[in-house]
Amino acid sequence: MRNPKDFFTPLAMGAPDPVREIPSRPSRVIHFFDPSNEKMAAKVPAMVGSVDILLGNLEDGVKADNKVAAREGLVRIGRDVDFGDTTQFWTRLNSLDSPWFLDDVTMIVPAIGDRLDVVMVPKVEGAEDIHYVDRLLAQLEARAGLARPILVHAILETARGVANVEEICGASPRMQGLSLGPADLAASRRMKTTRVGGGHPGYLVRQDPPGGDVDADRPTYQQDLWHYTIARMVDACAANGIYPFYGPFGDIKDVVACEDQFRNAFLLGCVGAWSLHPAQIAIAKRVFSPSPEDVAHARAVVEAMGDGTGAVMLDGRMEDDASLKQCLVLIDLAERLGRLDPELAQAYAGSARSEGEDA
Ligand code: GLV
Ligand code: MG
Repeated sequence: MRNPKDFFTPLAMGAPDPVREIPSRPSRVIHFFDPSNEKMAAKVPAMVGSVDILLGNLEDGVKADNKVAAREGLVRIGRDVDFGDTTQFWTRLNSLDSPWFLDDVTMIVPAIGDRLDVVMVPKVEGAEDIHYVDRLLAQLEARAGLARPILVHAILETARGVANVEEICGASPRMQGLSLGPADLAASRRMKTTRVGGGHPGYLVRQDPPGGDVDADRPTYQQDLWHYTIARMVDACAANGIYPFYGPFGDIKDVVACEDQFRNAFLLGCVGAWSLHPAQIAIAKRVFSPSPEDVAHARAVVEAMGDGTGAVMLDGRMEDDASLKQCLVLIDLAERLGRLDPELAQAYAGSARSEGEDA
């Protein structure tokens, strides 16, 4: 275990200083593409500016025969594409126990380490995995003469990883965030599902039998398989100043349930979700941006609360210091997103005006 006093000194002589705070850049959507797929790779430059995070995937989903081509494709894209200020460039490395991880890191860092914002590390089991990646990155950054450290994002997708989630989040100042990996996590836990994220119609509760008649028509309510894990993830991330994300939703054509799953994650505290298909980009951007109505309400609460102390009644509801703090979270996010997206800025400004007009 590192001494917290030494937490902000580099792990290798000549490596860049660790960051003291993880930048809170808009991160509503992490769009996955396979860098070995030329058709997909060709679409990347046109997505810069409109997608918060573009991630070249090297792990699951890329055929074993294409692993080297994917790595080479990623390097090409990193060198050729200007990601500008609004779009982050990430990669998902192969897992630590795979035959590809070491070559992934040792080739990618010197080639495009100055372009990469974050490396996503799959199947993280505990702090020891992050410590290993941390030191390896520091050594490679020092050798490559990089000026800023590459951040690390862990996928929470093993039962052991979930058991160790707090220590994973606090394992390094590089830790940028966590994603839920529901597909691998389901397998690791021996859940009896076969889907990539989302719900299951069999996971439900049923109303009591009317008059004791168990055969009567009784409404059932599907439950969220991922609630427990997302809630743990959100607390562990918030406690360490890093960011939680929902992961993949595999049923691409069910855009409605995808939106529901993303919204549950947003309401619980996640900042974004993965997109596996261009159709999911707009869903994530919409869901993870506060609605103009919520922003208008939040501004009205701020206005009504004056110096921020005490309690007031607004539209029949009690507002106090605690609801004010929730409103400030929404306003802060809206302002950050508005700086990036003029259409959103306009929607938020419009909602403030109509609120004012109504008053
Ligand atoms: C993502 O990697 C998952 O396993 O769900
Ligand atoms: Mg996985």
